[in-house]
Amino acid sequence: MSDLSMSGSAGEFARAKVNLALHITGRRDDGYHLLDSLVVFPAIGDRLHAEAADGLSLTITGPFAVGLAPNSDNLVLKAIRSLATACGQPEPRLALTLEKNLPVASGIGGGSADAAAVLRLARNIAGMTLPTLELERLALQLGADVPVCLDQCAVRLKGIGESLSHLPRLPDFGIVLVNPRVAVSTPAIFKGLENRNNSCLPEIPAGFETLTSLISYLEDTRNDMQATAERLCPVISQVLAALSAEPQTLLSRMSGSGATCFALCRSGDEDGLAARIQKSHPAWWVASSNSVT
Ligand code: C5P
Repeated sequence: MSDLSMSGSAGEFARAKVNLALHITGRRDDGYHLLDSLVVFPAIGDRLHAEAADGLSLTITGPFAVGLAPNSDNLVLKAIRSLATACGQPEPRLALTLEKNLPVASGIGGGSADAAAVLRLARNIAGMTLPTLELERLALQLGADVPVCLDQCAVRLKGIGESLSHLPRLPDFGIVLVNPRVAVSTPAIFKGLENRNNSCLPEIPAGFETLTSLISYLEDTRNDMQATAERLCPVISQVLAALSAEPQTLLSRMSGSGATCFALCRSGDEDGLAARIQKSHPAWWVASSNSVT
């Protein structure tokens, strides 16, 4: 393994996290909510690049860099510093560049995906590896969504984000993400919930052989944050209406605490669907992928 802190460079792709279903099943004594969620990762994301340097620095570029300060509050710097401390190492000497392609505070895990990406990237630095369980614990301390972003593969997520189990292989499908460029506060949506003790996800079948079987499973599920988010941020209802009006849309729903919503479609339909939404709503952020892990 190359030692990134001595020489060389490395990169990581931080995929968006999409909650295909998100049930809220309870609340812990510390106020955190218990979730039961299906999570997938389309090939739409931020890019993190690192080069050996004299000290640790972070530069943020890309379409959503505006308003993001590359200071010590940034989850990327917090993550690499926490990892160094946990490994008993000095701060790594790295020039980090984050290309911020995902909208911020948008329900698709952007900051968590970036933090997870820097933890993966640190595997290229001598002395900066932790046993898996310790790494997952550190990830959870950084944010409830960071552990699921470490592996970027389709899972059922339970607890607040610490309990992850692999899903059966999913059929091919396309996905379109739409964000109306309105930031949503996750704590505000959790606080506004009317029901916190909802049902778990229906039993997951041994396999989703066809896209029809996946869609019919998802039709029996929900995002329990969606109604509250639509009430506090009414433009989300417009996004959902625009997505569900498209004939190729098989299912549309909000991800996480919003405001990003997604449509699922047959693989190959996603670019056309995205182009039509972008044309009718030029101010919205629209992205598509048919490579979903
Ligand atoms: O863990 P993270 O910092 O991403 O969470 C942000 C906030 O969202 C928490 O402070 C908490 O208010 C809320 N939250 C929650 N239940 C979760 C995840 C987050 O109540 N499972």
